[in-house]
Amino acid sequence: MSWAGRAAIVTGAGRGIGRAIAQALGRERMQVGLLGRRVSELEAVAPEIQAAGGRPIVLQADVRDYASLERAFQDFWATTGRLDVLVNNAGIGIFRPVEEMTPEEFDDVVRTNLYGVFYCCKLAIPRMRRTGGGYIIQVGSLAGRNPIAGGAAYCASKFAVRGFSESLMLEVRYDDIKVTTIAPGSVDTHFGGHGENAAWKLRPEDIAQVVVDLLHTAPHALASYVELRPLKPQK
Ligand SMILES: NC(=O)c1ccc[n+]([C@@H]2O[C@H](COP(=O)([O-])OP(=O)(O)OC[C@H]3O[C@@H](n4cnc5c(N)ncnc54)[C@H](OP(=O)(O)O)[C@@H]3O)[C@@H](O)[C@H]2O)c1
Repeated sequence: MSWAGRAAIVTGAGRGIGRAIAQALGRERMQVGLLGRRVSELEAVAPEIQAAGGRPIVLQADVRDYASLERAFQDFWATTGRLDVLVNNAGIGIFRPVEEMTPEEFDDVVRTNLYGVFYCCKLAIPRMRRTGGGYIIQVGSLAGRNPIAGGAAYCASKFAVRGFSESLMLEVRYDDIKVTTIAPGSVDTHFGGHGENAAWKLRPEDIAQVVVDLLHTAPHALASYVELRPLKPQK
């Protein structure tokens, strides 16, 4: 099945995994909404999408802020008239023992990683229904199944995303909306300390390839949860 001309929104598309996913969707010749807080980063990615054969649409929004997302989704719809794919990728990690973590930091992690996913799904689903279905892909984490000392807030948010997404999958599957959670291990991005002993890590392009593979699964088949690990993590 060809995705050419169809429309996707990728959150956190300015760098790291989101940027690689946006580039890959550009190579699928899709219209790609590049959503994030920093327009300068998004505008730097836009020519890459164009060069790959896609159509970039820069969308400034903060996934913690529902009103800004509403505006971004409306602008996107006004340009494309459709929304076929949503990739909820934007996320942050603050790793600190619970007794040292401030309420503001905890709030920031949960609002970005969990509320942001809910907000974008809420805005995407009715739009997907209008054109007969779609695909929602969440970038979760292995930390959504495996606890990490010092990672209580991050793990809580990613465990929650898994529960949210698997419930949503059951809710919308009969409406031809697929939902998949990708749970990567360590990826070589700014998130995990870019460039330090990075050879063993996954590359952003590895996650992007999974996204493309998922889009090309048979229409009647659904991979609901995919873990992608570095083959040889540091011992
Ligand atoms: N790297 C890893 O080892 C790893 C492993 C497993 C899962 N993940 C997950 O992968 C996803 C992407 O991470 P990454 O490694 O690519 O990190 P990254 O390089 O730090 O990129 C994160 C992206 O999210 C955006 N973002 C953050 N807060 C946002 C907000 N409030 N509103 C809109 N955009 C926001 C950032 O843009 P702005 O700050 O400019 O807005 C940036 O584009 C995250 O969900 C992360 O949890 C990462």
